[in-house]
Amino acid sequence: MRKDKVHIFDTTLRDGEQVPGCKLDTSQKLVIAERLDQLGVDIIEAGFPISSPGDFQSVSEIAKVVKEATVCGLTRAVKKDIEVAAEALKSARIPRIHTGIGTSDSHIKFKFNSTREKILERAVEAVKYAKSFVEDIEFYAEDAGRTDNEYLARVCEAVIKAGATVLNIPDTTGYCLPEEYGAKMKYLKENVKGIEKAILSCHCHNDLGLATANSISGVINGARQIECTINGIGERAGNTSLEEVVMILRQHPDLNLDTGINSKLLYSTSQMVSQKMGMPVQPNKAIVGSNAFAHSSGIHQDGVIKKRETYEIIDPEDVGVNESSIVLTARSGRAALAYRAKKVGYELTKVQLDSVYDEFLKFADRKKEILDEDIHQIVIASKVNIESIA
Ligand code: KIV
Ligand code: ZN
Repeated sequence: MRKDKVHIFDTTLRDGEQVPGCKLDTSQKLVIAERLDQLGVDIIEAGFPISSPGDFQSVSEIAKVVKEATVCGLTRAVKKDIEVAAEALKSARIPRIHTGIGTSDSHIKFKFNSTREKILERAVEAVKYAKSFVEDIEFYAEDAGRTDNEYLARVCEAVIKAGATVLNIPDTTGYCLPEEYGAKMKYLKENVKGIEKAILSCHCHNDLGLATANSISGVINGARQIECTINGIGERAGNTSLEEVVMILRQHPDLNLDTGINSKLLYSTSQMVSQKMGMPVQPNKAIVGSNAFAHSSGIHQDGVIKKRETYEIIDPEDVGVNESSIVLTARSGRAALAYRAKKVGYELTKVQLDSVYDEFLKFADRKKEILDEDIHQIVIASKVNIESIA
């Protein structure tokens, strides 16, 4: 059965770059944008052009170099923002303006001191104005996660009529549960007239650690775009992580959904973004963390050495990691020690392994991790006759 395509909208250079201390200059952004294009993302959100002259310049330069992806610029529902974004995007092969406004009662009352009707009018005006510059218009209903579904459906219907091609339903505060976010998408699919003319998009924040789960729930319920960032960086606790959603859809063919991402570039892209932003990747980060394919407990190591699939659901090569690693700690067993000893040149018999293992445990209790150079010392200290080791 042919799989349905889920478009990947990367916002590493916009929502991702909002992380304090992660500011990039134009040349760094250009390198990342070119890499995202090679990775196969469908849309690159290059920045928020009105926010600063530097961001304007970055969006214009990115628009010139990107070969395949749509290049997108963010705006508020404000005429000047839209004009500036259109100007920054004018060299893009495929430009998109991403405009929108807060739709939850909290945003309407406290941010805008306005009413639902007036906000709906502003949304429609912004989309119509943006449409006078470019064809492809994405509308975001900020704080859609906490917006009343009936009102949200009315806004969506009105902006589709005004020309929106994509409807972004952000869970801006990371509040929703996966069932709730999925139900919101389903409600919009079923209750918005003209919904077949637009793509529904998931934009989930990770305040409760649910961004990825919510995005997956969104696409299961009819959304066909996910907004995400490399390493899941973004405002506060971050955004949905690109590498996670790509690999979830890939590892679950039963969902019949796929992206066009070249997964073999995931690890190196993660490293590139981490280095350029000076933002380390947490070691236990799914897919791209340094421990994602590392095994340290004896039971797991024994299984992985016998057959990788016993404890790994992803082939590390599929995400650009050379191989799984067997980490030696005080929790490791004989199988792991024999495996690593062989790698550094010692083929141990069973009797030799017993002696070396006793010595290994003494070392391992003193050290967090046993490295290749330690293995030589351990073999010598075990008093096994080195000449007799193959
Ligand atoms: O989280 C959010 O609501 C956003 C919008 C500006 C799209 O980032
Ligand atoms: Zn966001």
